[in-house]
Amino acid sequence: MLVTNNIDEIRQARWADPTASWGLVPTMGALHAGHLSLAERAVSENDKACATIFVNPTQFAPTDDLDKYPRTLQHDLDTFESAGIDLVFTPTPDIMYPAGFGTRVLVDGITDKLEGEYRPGHFDGVTQVVTKLFNIVQPTRAYFGQKDAQQTVVLKKMVRDLNFNLDLIVCPTVREADGLAMSSRNRYLTMTQRANAPVLHAALQRAADMIVEEGVRNAEKVRQAIRKMINQTPEAKLIYASVASGVTLDELEKIHGEILISLAVRLGETRLIDNLMLKDVE
Ligand code: PAJ
Repeated sequence: MLVTNNIDEIRQARWADPTASWGLVPTMGALHAGHLSLAERAVSENDKACATIFVNPTQFAPTDDLDKYPRTLQHDLDTFESAGIDLVFTPTPDIMYPAGFGTRVLVDGITDKLEGEYRPGHFDGVTQVVTKLFNIVQPTRAYFGQKDAQQTVVLKKMVRDLNFNLDLIVCPTVREADGLAMSSRNRYLTMTQRANAPVLHAALQRAADMIVEEGVRNAEKVRQAIRKMINQTPEAKLIYASVASGVTLDELEKIHGEILISLAVRLGETRLIDNLMLKDVE
């Protein structure tokens, strides 16, 4: 496995065999089983696979936890190696954003909803860095997790709008046995908060049951049920509960079509997100 922060070396490795298909797995490190599932899929579906580890400063707000973001480089490299990754790109901020850098990639409409409403500019940083990673690696396929549902919707639109020559593949959310979605932030939960954290998935599951099993089509009723479950949980503070179109991310009145049920919750100091996507609700 070649590990480098050098863009020319990445290009050389990438184009050593121009007929090889390449999978790309962009990450910010602090790897867990969710990231690993993306890496394994990229390895299995392509001749070669490249992963990237870069805590991208442009997607963090000044008040965000950029400096506190966990950094576990050796563990991450061991994880990628064991998954069969061929190439790891580990740039520094100076390599990605050298003096004089000044280009942004803005996706209209969907970036200021849901997460975007609470984290202004976040998705502009994501589209900026992912564009650079796509151009540096030029993968055949790029792998992202359903865990960050809005990120996948934004990036899919960017790929379509800007004609990136790659397939964007969305992989299922990997969960702990009790339903909690794997996240690098879970390590910040106290024991009590960790014990209560499965309520995010439980609330989403309840919402999905209301829609699929009980035939509820009033979106506000579903949002209310989510709010109630979160508000009954000690230390949990609901940030938002959403039942939206999976395409436009607009909040729905009447449920039909592709539905994204999502929520953000603060458990003490830790902000957690989770979601479920339902296809083809009639
Ligand atoms: P990061 O949070 O490190 O996540 C890297 C990839 O892993 C993302 O596609 C994310 O959706 C996926 N992922 C995280 N938790 C997951 C889980 N429990 N199950 C499945 N997939 C999971 O997302 C980012 O980094 C950044 O925004 C990035 C795309 C790298 C751009 O900087």
